[in-house]
Amino acid sequence: METKAVFHPGSTYVANWTRADALKIAPDDSNTKPRIPEDFPLMTEEVWVWDTWPLTDLDMEPVAYEGWNIIFSLVAPRDIFFGDRHWQARIGYFYSQDAQSWTYGGELFPADSSFGSREWAGSTVITEDDDVHAFYTASGRDDGGIDPTDALQRLAHAEGRIHADDDGVWFTGFEDHTIIAEADGRLYQTLEQSESGPIIYAFRDPFVFRDPTDRQIYALFEGNNGGVAGSHRCDRKEIGRVPPGHVVPDDARYYTGNIGLLRLNRGSDFTSWRLMPPLLSAECVNQQTERPHLVVHEGRYYLWTISHEFTFAPGLWGPDGLYGFVGAGLRSDYKPLNGSALVLGNPQDAPLQNYSDYVMPNLLVESFIDTVPTADGGVRYGGTLAPTLEIELDGAARTSELVAELPYGYIPANRSVP
Ligand code: FRU
Repeated sequence: METKAVFHPGSTYVANWTRADALKIAPDDSNTKPRIPEDFPLMTEEVWVWDTWPLTDLDMEPVAYEGWNIIFSLVAPRDIFFGDRHWQARIGYFYSQDAQSWTYGGELFPADSSFGSREWAGSTVITEDDDVHAFYTASGRDDGGIDPTDALQRLAHAEGRIHADDDGVWFTGFEDHTIIAEADGRLYQTLEQSESGPIIYAFRDPFVFRDPTDRQIYALFEGNNGGVAGSHRCDRKEIGRVPPGHVVPDDARYYTGNIGLLRLNRGSDFTSWRLMPPLLSAECVNQQTERPHLVVHEGRYYLWTISHEFTFAPGLWGPDGLYGFVGAGLRSDYKPLNGSALVLGNPQDAPLQNYSDYVMPNLLVESFIDTVPTADGGVRYGGTLAPTLEIELDGAARTSELVAELPYGYIPANRSVP
């Protein structure tokens, strides 16, 4: 059962999430999230809150600053329709002493400083002293306004400083932003190449970390495989050992999700990066492998991503939720956890209940509440953090299991700086 093959991070070996793997998706108690009651609490009345990540160090550990736990979230004014939030998204931040009752601190960047017309998900890393590096998706054209049809995405960086006193946390800086990566058309599909495709495009969600093996700094991100949408033919590596009779629908070739990789150029101040081949391809399986991130646990590399029911390729089904893969190194022959990659999916009677799971090194999984069905047959929109869940991993058996449900929005740091 053990997976051993490890490749140089710069090599062109790309692991596959195959159709055969995805056909094994089978929700059960070990991988289904508990129902969230319709009277869930809100963390703030001010903003919709969705994709969330903790302040981390380069080793991927959530860190507190002067005793304050700190998280970053995509936010939008709570008086707009929940579904319109993506087009007005900004990165906001919260701080807390107990890691579960959060105070909203406002937006991270000064007004009009970021690239794109809205800020989408990323990661925020504290380095020496009080230096904080924010990585985000510059979504939409610069000054593009509120335009849902504008799907351009680039990866961006800005540097700032963190401050705290007994009353809370605040940030300064973040005035000079740099675009650090754009799709190249060869490894990663450009927006133009995607336009013949039937479904949404991705070049987003940078997650920055230092690989404990080679000590180089990398970013994972969500991409689509390069080339004009539809020009690809699903091959045996992508299909895998499917049961007899499984037919690959023709349109599966349009689904080109991948987990991309960037490497920081040596000596660079976090602004100069190189595109590397993706670590994992979901070609012919799924169009979206969103918010990829990593946990190195007991020597194994666990690659996590979130995906939706509607982004699976034709002929496949999986719930909205968290999917995971395990390998022996950063670039390795990742195998899906639980045979299929499904780690935590929404219950089938609440298929949009929550989303955007983020696994921390302590195996706590935070996410936000999306849309909860109500007893009267309607729905209640969340836009607030969901109960944190806890999973256990068996690396040798390549399995995961849901073991506990913890308080809403419980995101404890692992250590405090300075
Ligand atoms: C996941 C996601 C991210 C993106 C953001 C946009 O919920 O789609 O991939 O950065 O939401 O709102």
